[in-house]
Amino acid sequence: MSTLAASPTRTLQIRPLHAALGAEVLGLDLSQPLADDDFRRIHRAHLDHHVLVFRDQRITPAQQIEFSRRFGPLQIHVLRQFQLPGHPEILVVSNIKDDQGQPIGLGDAGHYWHSDLSYKEKPSLGSMLHAQELPAEGGDTLFANMHLAWDTLPAHLKQAVQGKRAKHSYLAKYEALRARNPWRPKLTEAQIAEVAPVLHPIVRTHPETGRKALFVSEHFTTRIEGLPDDESQALLGELFAHSVKPEHLYRHVWQAHDMVFWDNRSLMHLAAGCPDHLRRRLNRTTIEGDVPF
Ligand SMILES: [Fe+2]
Repeated sequence: MSTLAASPTRTLQIRPLHAALGAEVLGLDLSQPLADDDFRRIHRAHLDHHVLVFRDQRITPAQQIEFSRRFGPLQIHVLRQFQLPGHPEILVVSNIKDDQGQPIGLGDAGHYWHSDLSYKEKPSLGSMLHAQELPAEGGDTLFANMHLAWDTLPAHLKQAVQGKRAKHSYLAKYEALRARNPWRPKLTEAQIAEVAPVLHPIVRTHPETGRKALFVSEHFTTRIEGLPDDESQALLGELFAHSVKPEHLYRHVWQAHDMVFWDNRSLMHLAAGCPDHLRRRLNRTTIEGDVPF
């Protein structure tokens, strides 16, 4: 009989987290090469659960970028000043200030419900956030399942939005955020040109699963094409309120070394915020998606 103990093998496990959305990925080390079979399972699970939480990932920024690229080309955020030095594909999301009192990252990212980069002609397929430093309290991220939001939308609202498009603008809330957080840089002409508003269908079809989803958000959607202002505002208000009903939500409470990968075509998300004096820092990559249809 051999005296050699079997080497500890880790088996990839995907465990649903919540009824509305989300699954945990266990037994996978993303610092190691990813087998094609494991990649296929992860890809499928991402489509099924919309948020994947990879626990305990000790990976470098370069490894996060490499894993992200398996899903598509990466997008570079318009606020270049918050790129991780040496890695333009990584946006630093943080409330930490350096010795000169300058923010090291985007500190108020996501304080309104949104889908990342919905203001681009090709919004994001998905985003990955890798926890670097987590506060002792607060800092949760909430996700809303926009397929459920569409499926459960009352018939009169479905009818009201069917075939309509809405405008998405990065600039819509930018000045309001700047007034609250003066460290937000004034955008240059070139940056403003890079984020010109776009129109997207209010009901989009997921390009990989064919499922329909509501695609409007409090942060970036400013109005519905072809409706008078007051009607547009009233209808958007109803859609926003319906989207974030508690039964559509999953709240992610971060654990050390979590890496979270969500589908921006299926979800909106919101940063719950944490007390100012607590440090929070995460590295984000964003994968480019398709033109919504
Ligand atoms: Fe975001």
